[in-house]
Amino acid sequence: MASSKSVPKLFIFFIIIFTLTCTLTTTCSLPFVVFHGIADKCSATGVKRFTKLLTNWTGSQGYCVEIGDGVWDSWFMPLLEQTTIACEKVVKKISELSEGYNIVGLSQGNMVGRGVVEFCEGGPPVKNFISLAGPHAGIASVPFCGSGWLCILVDYLIKLAVYSTYVQKHLAPASYIKIPTDIKGYLEGCRFLPKLNNERVNHRNSTYKERFSSLQNLVLIMFEQDAVLVPKETSLFGYYPDGSWSTVLPAQEYFVQTKLYTEDWIGLKTLDEAGKVKFINVSGGHLHISPSDIEKYIVPYLLDEASIQLAKIAKPYHGE
Ligand SMILES: *[C@@H]1O[C@H](CO)[C@@H](O)[C@H](O)[C@H]1NC(C)=O
Ligand SMILES: *[C@@H]1O[C@H](CO)[C@@H](O)[C@H](O)[C@H]1NC(C)=O
Ligand SMILES: *[C@@H]1O[C@H](CO)[C@@H](O)[C@H](O)[C@H]1NC(C)=O
Repeated sequence: MASSKSVPKLFIFFIIIFTLTCTLTTTCSLPFVVFHGIADKCSATGVKRFTKLLTNWTGSQGYCVEIGDGVWDSWFMPLLEQTTIACEKVVKKISELSEGYNIVGLSQGNMVGRGVVEFCEGGPPVKNFISLAGPHAGIASVPFCGSGWLCILVDYLIKLAVYSTYVQKHLAPASYIKIPTDIKGYLEGCRFLPKLNNERVNHRNSTYKERFSSLQNLVLIMFEQDAVLVPKETSLFGYYPDGSWSTVLPAQEYFVQTKLYTEDWIGLKTLDEAGKVKFINVSGGHLHISPSDIEKYIVPYLLDEASIQLAKIAKPYHGE
């Protein structure tokens, strides 16, 4: 009895110390950055609500980093440029990130996020990378967008010549479209993903690998009913085998055959063998994540060490 009374006191003591330390040093709670997907913007209700909710649930400050004007540029600005802008904004504009931060990527935003991790010169360290429906191994067709004039134009451009300089310069998704039957065209013409994945034999850069493999955790979330990403397994680095449209190789099997993993071009194998990659498969359509899955797969990585310790101390006394 006596001991069960003294523990909450101890707990309150910890909270006070913790709060004081956090207020004084502001290093307790690592902030996070959200990169939104295509046809979206930071000011959109969905992105705003998502960022706020994560902040509410974790106590960590969240920032949605906008690139260009949002919707338009998410469609038409090549990802190498988007990455450069994100890097400048993250590094130079948000001083709160200077001690390090976490990234939450939504769909195409994962390309920007990973670009920042690998390419950003002198950027603050990225600790945890939480990827929701990221086209990490490429996509084989344009994200579905309906029958508006924009989509008709986009579809026309893609079919015309996805790896031409013109399309590469004017259409964001072309930065990560990987036609399984045109790997040669992809490696030569695609300006972003082959660089990001260190796929070009004579252009592999160990700095990208070093930076990527220094992540503390990489959480890859695939949506089981994802109809936007083709194939959805790209969220886990799974893809079609080179030269064929046949069955998609799920992440683990794809690894056996892909040199990106076996030769560890970007450090995915290093991270995986250190137990730092979480391959998650959740039920739902593209980016339709349930509150309970947010709690299970996102929140724990946005809390920092101190608050996790605190949660452990607090847990046995729940319900008393
Ligand atoms: C966050 O918490 C505040 C205050 O507790 C509340 O008013 C707000 O609705 C919450 N926002 C979300 C997105 O949960
Ligand atoms: C690799 O990337 C780093 C960082 O961007 C750059 O400084 C370096 O010159 C690159 N190395 C090669 C061989 O391209
Ligand atoms: C995802 O999980 C569901 C339910 O557990 C399972 O039926 C399905 O095969 C899994 N999909 C993949 C690609 O692993």
